[in-house]
Amino acid sequence: MSGTESRSAVPIVPEGWTPKSGDDPVVRDKHGLIGAQVSRLDGPLKVRGEARFAAEYLMEGMVYAALRYSTIARGHVTALDTAAAEAAPGVVLVMTHRNAPQMQPPPLFLTAPKAAGGSSLPVMQDDSIHWNGEPVAVVLADTQEQADHAATLIEVHYTSSTPRTFEEARQHPRTPDSLVGQPVEVLVGDAEAALADAAQSVDLTYRTPRHNHNAIEPHAVTLGWDGDDLIVHDASQGVKLHAWTYAQAFGLEEDQVHLTSPYVGGGFGGKTLWSHHLLGAAASKLAGRPVRVTLSREGVYRLVGGRTNTEQRVAIGTDDQGRFTALIHTGISAMTPYNALAEQFTFPARHMYATETLKTDQQVVDMDMLANSFMRAPGESVGTFALESAIDELAVELDVDPIELRIRNDPERDPSSGLPFSARNLVQAWRTGAERFAWEERMAPRTRREGEWLVGTGCAAATYPYHRFPGGVARLRLDKTGHATVEVPAADMGMATATTQTIITAERLGLPLERVTVAYGDSAFPGSMLAGGSGQTASISGAVIAAQRALVEQLLALAGDDSPLAGLTADEVGGRDEGLCELADPSRWESYAQIVQRTGRDEVVVVASASDPEEMQAYSMHSTGALFCEVRVNAVTGETRVSRFLGSYDCGRIINPTTAASQFRGGIIMGIGLALMEETEFDERTGRIMNPSLAEYHVPVHMDVPRIDVIWTDIPDPHAPAGARGIGEIGITGVAAAIANAIYNATGRRVRDLPITLDKLL
Ligand code: MOS
Repeated sequence: MSGTESRSAVPIVPEGWTPKSGDDPVVRDKHGLIGAQVSRLDGPLKVRGEARFAAEYLMEGMVYAALRYSTIARGHVTALDTAAAEAAPGVVLVMTHRNAPQMQPPPLFLTAPKAAGGSSLPVMQDDSIHWNGEPVAVVLADTQEQADHAATLIEVHYTSSTPRTFEEARQHPRTPDSLVGQPVEVLVGDAEAALADAAQSVDLTYRTPRHNHNAIEPHAVTLGWDGDDLIVHDASQGVKLHAWTYAQAFGLEEDQVHLTSPYVGGGFGGKTLWSHHLLGAAASKLAGRPVRVTLSREGVYRLVGGRTNTEQRVAIGTDDQGRFTALIHTGISAMTPYNALAEQFTFPARHMYATETLKTDQQVVDMDMLANSFMRAPGESVGTFALESAIDELAVELDVDPIELRIRNDPERDPSSGLPFSARNLVQAWRTGAERFAWEERMAPRTRREGEWLVGTGCAAATYPYHRFPGGVARLRLDKTGHATVEVPAADMGMATATTQTIITAERLGLPLERVTVAYGDSAFPGSMLAGGSGQTASISGAVIAAQRALVEQLLALAGDDSPLAGLTADEVGGRDEGLCELADPSRWESYAQIVQRTGRDEVVVVASASDPEEMQAYSMHSTGALFCEVRVNAVTGETRVSRFLGSYDCGRIINPTTAASQFRGGIIMGIGLALMEETEFDERTGRIMNPSLAEYHVPVHMDVPRIDVIWTDIPDPHAPAGARGIGEIGITGVAAAIANAIYNATGRRVRDLPITLDKLL
C-alpha cells in the first residue's frame, strides 16, 4: 500500500489543460496506486465511534429541540396554546410564527451557485400551512425527552381546505421552467408521425410512486451563535452551499457562518438545507443558547422531501430490422411551486439509443405537499424503469433477444445533441456481462419452474451523466517533512471521497498514501463543492490538478541553484518517489522534504481553481452499464426474491475497486427497494404521509439481497480527470427494469407500476 517500489514519474498537467484536451497524465497503462484496493481511510474512526457526526457535538449550554408538525396540508393556524408546554419541566423556549425571528426564505437549490434550500417557502413566518407536516412550533428544553414531551402539550387549531389530489391536479398541468437547467422538450424530427408509420411499435404507460429518504443518519444539526457569527455542525452534502444559504436567510455575510460537516451518514440528495436548519438557528438566537436538532425518523419524512411520483409514456417504433425510427418518452410528475425538481425521467432516452426521430417532454402538476427533492439518480432511476421495460416489451414483440436489440440500436454519436461521446463501451459491458451471467441459458417466459418457484432472468441498461461542477478550488499544502494536505470544501457522506482523492493525489505527486491527507467538510476552505450529481470526484480532481501545477511551479522557483532540479520548468518534471525528477533524466531528483527545507519555510501553500468544465460542452459524457438479474417468483404467494444480480459497468477508470464496488452494490440494493418495496403511502385526502417509519416503509434488508456481482470495463475516459466518470448514482439506475423484466420472464406477467408487490403478481 505504501508503494515503496520506484515507478516512472507522472508528468505535471500542462498549463491551461482542461479534460477536453485529452488524457490526464495520471492515467497510465500501469497505474500504481490507482486501481489498488484501499479500504476506507476513515473506517477505523467510524468503527471506534471516534468519527463525530452532527448530533454528537456538544456546545456549552446547549439545549435540545423538538418540533411540532402540522396535521393539515393546506390552511392556517387559527389558535396556538403554548402555556402548558412553556410550564413543562426543563423547557427554555417555545417558538412559533408569533415569536420567530424574521428570516428570508432560503434560496432554492440550483437557483444560485451556492443555494442549498430544498424548498423556497418562508420558514415559520406566518400562520399559513403548505404541507401536512410543516413545523408549527419548536420547543427547546434541557433534555431531548423534556423537549419531546413538551411539544405534545401544545394545542394547535387550524382552518383547513382540502388538498388537491393528483387526479384533480393533472387537469391543470404546467411545463416546468427547465429540467435541472436543461431544456424540457427535445425534438428530433417528427417522432409521432414516425411512430404511426413504424413497422413494429410499442406505446406504453409506466407509473412510479413517491419515495422518502431513509439515510442511516437522520438529519441533525448542532449550532450556536457567537455574537453575530453562526457556528454550525451539520450533516451536509455541500458545506459552502449550506453556509451561504444560512447567511442569506439571516442577513449575514457568508464568512460569518462557520460550518463543518466532516462525517455524514448517507446523503443521497436529501442532505441539503431544510426547515429544521433555519428553525434551529432561529430558536438558538431567540433563546441565546446553542441548540441541537435531531430529527426523528418521522421528522425526516415530515421535513425532508423525497422522490416524487411519475406517470411516463414510452413509445418506440422500429423498421423491420428492429432499428428505432421513433423514440418517445414523455410524462408527468407531481411537484410544488416552491421547489425546482421535476424529476428528469426523460433524460436517459436523450442519450441511450440511436433513433431516426426523438421526442422527450415532461409536465408537472402542483400538489399541496412537502417540496419533493433530489434522491439518488433523480429522473434516471425511475426513467430507466420505463425506458428499459419498454425496450424489453419491444424485444418480445419483435421476438429478438433484448441485449441484441439494444446493441443493434447503440448510437455512434449522442442522438439528441449530435456530440461525440467522450467514451462509450456499453456494448463491451453487455458482452462481458452476458458471458459471465450465462445469459444464453435463458428460457422462454414461464417455462422454468423449481417447485413453487417460477424462475426467470432479465436485463436492462444503466446510465447516469458525467458532471464536473464549476467553482472547484483546492488549497494544497506541502510541509517540510514532505507531507501533502489537500483542503477542499467537499463532503464525504459515506462514498469514501477522501480515500479516493488520497489515492489520486498520492499517485499524481509520487507520494505514498500515508503522506497525503485530504481535509474536507469545512466552510473555511476556499471555493465551493457539492457532493451531488455523481460529480464530486471529477470536481475535486480538476481542482487538485490546478493546485499541483501551482505547487510545482512554486517549488521549482524556490528550489535554488543548488537543487538538482535547478533551471527546470514544470513541464519538464514529474512526481516520483516522494519528490520531483526530470522526466528526461530521472536521476535528476530531489525529495519534496528537501525542496521545502531549502526554502527555510515550514510549508509551501498554494490555492488554485479548476479549469471550467469545457469537456461537458465538447462531449456527451455518460457512465453506462449492463444489468443482469435472476428472480424467483413464488407461484402460490406472489413473493419475488432476487436470486442473482450482475452489474457490468463502463464508467471510465475505477480509482478504488474496494469502495467503487460498494457504491455500485449500494445503488443496486436501493434499486431492489425501488423495484419491489419502497413506496411512500401518501393519503391524497389529507396530504399526509401514512408510513413515516422503517416499520411501514420497506427498504431491502440483508435477507432481500443476493450476492451482487459487479464488474467494469475500466477503460479510462480520455476527457475526465483521472479518466474517471461518476459512479455514485448509476448503481440504482436500470435495476427496477432488470427486475421487472426478469419477473416477466419468470411469470409471463408484465407489471408497469412500481413497486412490484406480491398482490400485483397474484
Ligand atoms: Mo445526489 S441525488 O445528486 O445526492
